[in-house]
Amino acid sequence: VLAHGVRRDLAGRRVVVSAGGTREPLDPVRYLGNRSSGRQGYALARAAAARGAEVTLVAANTELGDPSGVHVVRVETTEQLRAEVLAAAAGCDAVVMAAAPADFRPSAVSGAKIKKTDDGSAPALELVQNPDILRELSAHRPGPTTVVVGFAAETGDGTGSVLDLARAKLARKGCDLLVVNDVSGGAVFGSADNEAVILGADGSATEVPRGSKGALAHTIWDQVARRLQDDPQ
Ligand code: CTP
Ligand code: CA
Repeated sequence: VLAHGVRRDLAGRRVVVSAGGTREPLDPVRYLGNRSSGRQGYALARAAAARGAEVTLVAANTELGDPSGVHVVRVETTEQLRAEVLAAAAGCDAVVMAAAPADFRPSAVSGAKIKKTDDGSAPALELVQNPDILRELSAHRPGPTTVVVGFAAETGDGTGSVLDLARAKLARKGCDLLVVNDVSGGAVFGSADNEAVILGADGSATEVPRGSKGALAHTIWDQVARRLQDDPQ
């Protein structure tokens, strides 16, 4: 334990964190994207480094400064994110998918700027589905004991509550831990604070009270560290 209370319990561990939102180009000036700021992923990278881990942060379109002591790789699209996460994750101890990958991309990227016409019409966009990185990491573990963590921002709907939907997502993805944000009350995107439940494939549920993204990051690493405990370094 160091003076400021951070345990070096991830010393000797190698972890990969993804952050930010991917962008899918339509033409040379336009893209499909989302509002993810990357702040939760950056907080996770910073917290892991403070606890002694060797950290690779794969950052998609973020405007945040590189955290010190963290190896940062920058990407734009979901396919680039997939390639860099898989490359960095080989043999690692934990992967946390905090990024918001675009689920779809235009089936073709126009080499020239798409122009409008005078008849008031608009082009139809044809989209194709992007690869699901978390599902792939969970199905084909990058190491024999790699802990795989996903995120989900959910609102309840007619088919179930936030936690029902999140349990189903955890099972579908096949990851070890799913960090669930209830976004029905308002926006979490871009805000400094976060409130979450961490669901485990073992049936566990850890409620994390409203607090900073740094505090949530440390609680997530507590859960990861517990699962790594029995594995030799
Ligand atoms: N994720 C991923 N690859 C994708 C999409 C999502 O790895 N192509 C990861 C995210 O980083 C996150 C988790 O999967 O950790 C859940 O993302 P979410 O968008 O909630 O899941 P989806 O399966 O895309 O479901 P939805 O239809 O609700 O968007
Ligand atoms: Ca999605």
